[in-house]
Amino acid sequence: MRKKRDAWKSRLGIIMAVSGSAVGLGNFLRFPVQAAQNGGGAFMIPYFISLLLLGIPLMWIEWTVGRFGGGFGHGTAPGIFHTMWEKNRFIKYFGVIGIFGPLVIFIYYNYIASWTLAYAVFSAVGKYGPVADQEGMLSLLKGFQGIEKNQFFSSLQSAYLFFLITFSINIFIIYKGISGGIERLCKIAMPTLFVFGVIIAVRVLTLGAPDPSRPGWNIMNGMGFLWNPDFAALKNAKVWLAAAGQIFFTLSVGIGVILTYASYLKKNDDVALSGLTAASTNEFAEIIIGSSIVIPAAFVFFGPHQIQSIAAGGAFNLGFVTMPLVFQKIALSAFFGCMWFALLFLAGITSSVSLAQPSIAFLEDEFNISKKKAVIIFAAVSFILCQPAIFFLKHGVVNELDFWGGTFCLVLFATVETILFGWVFGIEKAWEEMHHGADLKIPKIYKFIIKYITPLFLFLILGFWFVQEGIPTILMKGVSQADKPYVLGARLMLVGMFVVLGIMVKIAWRKRAKTRNNR
Ligand code: PFF
Repeated sequence: MRKKRDAWKSRLGIIMAVSGSAVGLGNFLRFPVQAAQNGGGAFMIPYFISLLLLGIPLMWIEWTVGRFGGGFGHGTAPGIFHTMWEKNRFIKYFGVIGIFGPLVIFIYYNYIASWTLAYAVFSAVGKYGPVADQEGMLSLLKGFQGIEKNQFFSSLQSAYLFFLITFSINIFIIYKGISGGIERLCKIAMPTLFVFGVIIAVRVLTLGAPDPSRPGWNIMNGMGFLWNPDFAALKNAKVWLAAAGQIFFTLSVGIGVILTYASYLKKNDDVALSGLTAASTNEFAEIIIGSSIVIPAAFVFFGPHQIQSIAAGGAFNLGFVTMPLVFQKIALSAFFGCMWFALLFLAGITSSVSLAQPSIAFLEDEFNISKKKAVIIFAAVSFILCQPAIFFLKHGVVNELDFWGGTFCLVLFATVETILFGWVFGIEKAWEEMHHGADLKIPKIYKFIIKYITPLFLFLILGFWFVQEGIPTILMKGVSQADKPYVLGARLMLVGMFVVLGIMVKIAWRKRAKTRNNR
């Protein structure tokens, strides 16, 4: 007999949970860096186009497809894809990406989230108090991450401790389940995060021009740095790729996580308005709050030239290196520092639990095992898989995982999903399913967009991206000789994970066929 599946308690709960997954380190750390690196205002044009033609359609697709699959007792892509295209024996293996991708991101995302917890504590106890410049702050970060041994840290011990704490919090929440764990967490964490975000943004926006000898280094120019359009950049395919990539990453779409969350909906629950609300919440956090913190703050203290070099230094480093320095220069520095990193930690944890859920749902739904067992298996396996990201960070393992899990899988999975929805399932049926129980009438133009424009856009991105970034990455261009064995090792681990998941799908389906035959 099929087990009763978990369910969301309230509509607000699932909207908070999906927003919780979407609003993450991507909004506050990755977005400003991507925007600044890709021409500021010029980046925003492809960004908004990608939001309208990729992000929002995919949000609707995933909510609809997830709810549909949940009705058949499937919470992950292998089972869901199979119910949408029963005649095809291979489609379930494409679905493996929808468990694999989130698991790969989980492995490193969880670790990065643990740095924010550590830095919240460092802010409170004044650990970085004596550090006065960027170089010092960078070496503190490197010492913490185990990239170098220095006067701040001589081992990975404290990073590992914060990893253990963060990992345990994740497991505890997942163990508590969909409504008792994730929904409860997000209902508290999301409003808190927004309050913190608004307070910090207002503080940054009222900085004015803190250095009287450099009146040009003011907030208005800082915002201009991000928003002044440079139309020449639009001709560059790289800018389009970066914008589309950011849309996927920030909305948590194209990876399987929202499929799983939506599978816990009931048949008559609305998906149209809820999906749009979650997307809008994320965009508010990104465009209004996310853009008003790191870049303008760094601009007024470091100026237009240095900020470029800081932005080039790494997508996640910026928030760890510049923000503590900025806070040191204002009153109540420990308070603001603590609040900034607590905000990041809340954003990180509500996203990382969502990344774990597809694996749990897969074990529960397809192997008919209890939640408790599923969580124990997940905890043991993912704990081991996290280790290379921690110990070999300095050899580029995290970048490698991010490339395959956080970029490649997203675009590929989104393409498969969109074709399946608009063409195999059929746009008429798809449109009807989207509007079942809906509280919003989706503009008709989206029928055309979902069928033709979204897949076309995805194919173009996939093609350009493969040539520009895929091939050099596969050939390990730019990877030093010393790091090659580690990058190769990470790839072997990924292939191993994918194969094991594929075999598990095969076993689950064989078992199901047997039970059906015995009936
Ligand atoms: N959306 C998250 C962020 O902006 O940080 C990251 C993320 C979470 C990506 C969950 C993908 C995902 F499935």
